[in-house]
Amino acid sequence: MFTQIEAESAISQARAETERRTPRQPARLVSQFSRSFALYDEAKKHLPAGASSNIRVYAHDPFPILFEKGKGSKVWDVDDNEYVDLLSSYGAIILGHSHPAVLQAINRQLQNGTMLGTTTELELEVAKKIQSAVPCAEMVSFANTGTEATMEAIRIARAFTGRDKILKFEGHYHGHHDYVLFSVESPSIVAGLEQAPSKLPYYPGIPDGISRTVVVAQWNDPVSLERVLKRNANDLAAIITEPVMGSAGIIPPKEEYLKSVRELADKYDVLLIFDEVLTGFRIAPGGAQEFYGVKPDIACYAKALGGGTPIAAVAGRQDVMGMIGPGKIGYGGTYNGNSMCLAAANATLDELMRDDGAAFKHMHLTGAEIMEGLRDLMARHDESGIVQGIGPMFQLYFTEAKKILNYRHTLQSDFDKFREFRNLMLRRGVYIHPDGTERMMITTAHASDDVELILSAAEDSFRELQKAN
Ligand SMILES: Cc1ncc(COP(=O)(O)O)c(C=O)c1O
Repeated sequence: MFTQIEAESAISQARAETERRTPRQPARLVSQFSRSFALYDEAKKHLPAGASSNIRVYAHDPFPILFEKGKGSKVWDVDDNEYVDLLSSYGAIILGHSHPAVLQAINRQLQNGTMLGTTTELELEVAKKIQSAVPCAEMVSFANTGTEATMEAIRIARAFTGRDKILKFEGHYHGHHDYVLFSVESPSIVAGLEQAPSKLPYYPGIPDGISRTVVVAQWNDPVSLERVLKRNANDLAAIITEPVMGSAGIIPPKEEYLKSVRELADKYDVLLIFDEVLTGFRIAPGGAQEFYGVKPDIACYAKALGGGTPIAAVAGRQDVMGMIGPGKIGYGGTYNGNSMCLAAANATLDELMRDDGAAFKHMHLTGAEIMEGLRDLMARHDESGIVQGIGPMFQLYFTEAKKILNYRHTLQSDFDKFREFRNLMLRRGVYIHPDGTERMMITTAHASDDVELILSAAEDSFRELQKAN
């Protein structure tokens, strides 16, 4: 740890750095967060880049804020600053932090062990709850993360069709395995034509051979999709898509778009995988497939399913999921379906489904209120921009563009200004991820007093931005 003198010197260096990078951000930003800064500095010596997941530090100039605890819609950082949380653990804590039903379920399960290493009755109970909520879920398999779920889904699709290639869309993120790390955040200069995006590895370390198994199309554009399908249909196992794009802010599908994706998948005889890691158990009890009335062949879940614990699921058609089994494909994982996470998932699903899905109605209303409020404030402060989303997940783009329908359109946004706005919000007690390609997310715990605080902080922040620009 730092001595007092070292900490002061480190803080003054960071303050100079803050002023250099974001001249409109006063040095107060650092002193309010001195322990975050000191811990991050220490973390960089022990964890590559200072974190166990890049997104926790990338874009957090000059340093990330480190949280210590969360309750309901609020989080507290290590300097004891309190925030309304619009990160919501990247979508995982759908009931808010430390929800009593989730904590009780975990505590109860802990008395019988964290994991048992066989199939359990609890596993069946949770699988049945997923089946009753999710239209495509004739069978369900558990995993631990969204990354594992999409990896397994792709393997199942390949085994079912006997084909190797998958089609993904530019700007979509499906986790951290090699199969899908292409054209996630392509720089515009090398991204190719909007309608025919280039295929680019996200970063080094992805074998060239894997690249030959991926083709890329533009999202929200059936013409681009059909062009790529026509050329590759004989080799394609599946189309994988986020049904609501959540990796470049939030971009809902155009009306009827998902229906055309389904039709084109059928026409070219390829499977359709919905990556519902963000949308599942968030935008409707049955996720995007219920919300938009389009049934995929396979769907992947994580995040909200576990209410803040690491559990994921692959769900799908019986014949397709039936590829898993002796003499067919393996499906492995020491921790798959571990009892502690299943207990949390069980409690989370009960809370979400009670009272005829009142939790979803609440999140949609709350999200709509925040979006409407932000739009109104932007207009009143002469800020050009777009606020868009689906109820519990939304994003604000500072842009002159009239619409944002795909990743390309987001490239016209002013992400530096977004970060400036975010830092102003931070100082007013609202935590937003600093990277404008992330998103704001709420939980069932966000209530009208949070909306008030968010909009009043936004009003002040827009005013300050306006003065500074
Ligand atoms: C749509 C989508 N798919 C997959 C993943 C990967 O999930 P995980 O981080 O649990 O591996 C994410 C993570 O953010 C995601 O947003």
